[in-house]
Amino acid sequence: MLKLDNIEAGYGNTRILHGVSLEIPKRGLVALLGGNGTGKSTTLKAIMGLVGLQSGTVTVDGRDMAGIAPEARAGLGLSLVPQGKEAFGAMSVEDNLRMGAYHRRKDRAGIAIDLEAVYTRFPRLKERRRVAAGMLSGGERQMLSIGRSLMSRPSVLLLDEPSAALAPKIVEEIAEAILGLRELGLTLLLVEQNVGMALDIADRLYVIRGGRIAHETAVGDGIAMSELQEFYLGGHQDA
Ligand SMILES: Nc1ncnc2c1ncn2[C@@H]1O[C@H](COP(=O)(O)OP(=O)(O)OP(=O)(O)O)[C@@H](O)[C@H]1O
Ligand SMILES: [Mg+2]
Repeated sequence: MLKLDNIEAGYGNTRILHGVSLEIPKRGLVALLGGNGTGKSTTLKAIMGLVGLQSGTVTVDGRDMAGIAPEARAGLGLSLVPQGKEAFGAMSVEDNLRMGAYHRRKDRAGIAIDLEAVYTRFPRLKERRRVAAGMLSGGERQMLSIGRSLMSRPSVLLLDEPSAALAPKIVEEIAEAILGLRELGLTLLLVEQNVGMALDIADRLYVIRGGRIAHETAVGDGIAMSELQEFYLGGHQDA
């Protein structure tokens, strides 16, 4: 379970998040939608401890994350699949995956098992395991990024715009993969600008605007795309 209670955070003296609260039950799949520069990535970084909180709390399974360093949070089951599909381009796919298990690099047997599990989930990564990550297609790179996170054995996975810059068919594949992660028992926070994808797979949506949650709704209450887009695109101005 992941809970953000009224968090405020930013960079230097600039405050970006002005009291963001959200909650994801265990095995829940919640989407955080919003336009460019609204604070989506900052929210994920605050959860990971990569950006310090100015106030509020982040709790994981009831445990307050205050004072816990990012690497230690990874050890407690939090993992971020960063925006931009960054990978170590010159390194092979397999070495990139191994990087995800770096904090337990002595556990060779466990790592071998986890690698096989990632390859079973993403057969294309297995085919391309000796290839430099920089040679992968956009969709393959996103799979690699997710796979690398899985190597840290997370319980809560934060995905930052996994559909960005991908063709619709590939977006569908990534959406399927994310649903598969939920089957695995993960708690998922999906940051997206792709409203359609979020509506397809999430059970709850939050819309962030100007560092504030502007709207919150369960999916399946007959939530209309037009209603969401009104919030998303700024039809409801709050400033
Ligand atoms: N490292 C940083 N230092 C200073 N300001 C930053 C930094 N990173 C982001 N910002 C600012 O914080 C605000 C929110 O950025 P953030 O990256 O959270 O937006 P986002 O919702 O993820 O946008 P996008 O959809 O474009 O990824 C923006 O105004 C951005 O310029
Ligand atoms: Mg972002």
